[in-house]
Amino acid sequence: MSWFVNLKINTKFNLILSLLLIVLFVAAAFFVYQRQQSLILKMAADQARLIARVIIESRDYMSSVVHDEPAHNYALVPQVVATQIAKRITKDSPYYVRQVSLRYRNPNNRPDPYETAHLQEFATRAAKEISEVVTTGQEPTFRYMLPMLAEKSCLKCHGKFEDAPKFIQERFPRGHYSYNYEVGQVIGAVSVSVPMEELYRVIGVNLRLDLLYRGAIFFLIIAIMGTLIRRTIISPVTLLAETIIRVTRTGNFAERLPKAGNDEIGRLIDAFNDMMEELSRKTAQSRESEERYRKFIEMAQSAVVTFMEDGKIVISNQRAEELFGLSRQAILGESVFKFLVDGEVLREGIATYLRDGKGGGVGETTLQKVRDTEGRVTEVEMALAASKTDHSPMFTAILRELPGKKSSEPM
Ligand code: HEC
Repeated sequence: MSWFVNLKINTKFNLILSLLLIVLFVAAAFFVYQRQQSLILKMAADQARLIARVIIESRDYMSSVVHDEPAHNYALVPQVVATQIAKRITKDSPYYVRQVSLRYRNPNNRPDPYETAHLQEFATRAAKEISEVVTTGQEPTFRYMLPMLAEKSCLKCHGKFEDAPKFIQERFPRGHYSYNYEVGQVIGAVSVSVPMEELYRVIGVNLRLDLLYRGAIFFLIIAIMGTLIRRTIISPVTLLAETIIRVTRTGNFAERLPKAGNDEIGRLIDAFNDMMEELSRKTAQSRESEERYRKFIEMAQSAVVTFMEDGKIVISNQRAEELFGLSRQAILGESVFKFLVDGEVLREGIATYLRDGKGGGVGETTLQKVRDTEGRVTEVEMALAASKTDHSPMFTAILRELPGKKSSEPM
């Protein structure tokens, strides 16, 4: 997870939001798809039932009204009429309709294995209607079957051979299995089928449109949230970070940041500005006190130098400059050890003091010889003090010239 922690807030936020939205998006799409699928199956079943009912009713009607007409006009046989009606109502639709029977007269009405199985089921009254998605072959198909029961009128042609009209007897000889039905017996079924692909095509389009809309909304949310987060959090925080880095580098505590509102970010900016105020006040104070100290040591009768642990002089007074034979500019940054004849001893003393926290001549007054830039040597009494108030320790040496001990001879 460390890679995640190191990401920018904006990226993190977008990542989390995207993930959430994608999950939501996929779940919603899935449910919509499921719902649409079950809806479309219900629709297909309704449609198939309607077609089947129209066919059955047409046949029933024809059967109850025809007498000898089919003898002259075969197109008036109830089955033939029903077939024509079925053809017409399913024209231009993906629905495919057949009327099948186990004991068929027309070979076109021979049931396929699926229909055979369900006709047998109907015959035993195990089912009233079949409606399901079947995957025989390669593609799934929606199939629907509704049984047709023999009515009294049907027996005119499907009852006893002797009762059948002549044209029937001629076509279907005695003993043909299409005779001898009884009222209420299953004589056949309307079988409707439609490839699922055709039905899915309808939802497929919807689903794609749906995905498109959702996707657009999803990107809009990410974009808006991203901009909002960037404006309200990322930009102010970045500005703050940059300002802090700059202040640390330049030491300019006069910088202030504009405040946009009173939220958490606003409070952060307030805190930053307060801190800067405090820092600039503190710096001014310490500068003043440094100035006071400088003025104070300027008045001293003895030479005073303040130096760092490496001997580098940071503060000096006029006396010290005279003693070392250097100007103010030149003396600052020079090593105090260089001007003492026993400079190396002092350096070791400082090291000892820093290591042990005591000794090394600190807090003591010693006799020293100062050699100025010209090589002149002056004997002095050196009082050495350490101050640890700052994070880096500093030392102050007060060098009092011993009267009459100035040697003009270069050594
Ligand atoms: C006027 C005679 C006649 C009447 C009445 C009649 N049928 Fe038929 N039926 C036929 C003929 C003839 C065929 C064969 C049609 C063909 O050649 O396609 C047939 C075919 C069928 C078929 C298709 C299976 C096959 O044998 O090819 C079914 C199912 C069927 N009839 C059911 C019924 C029902 C149910 C009724 C009553 C509502 C009925 N018929 C009334 C004459 C009749």
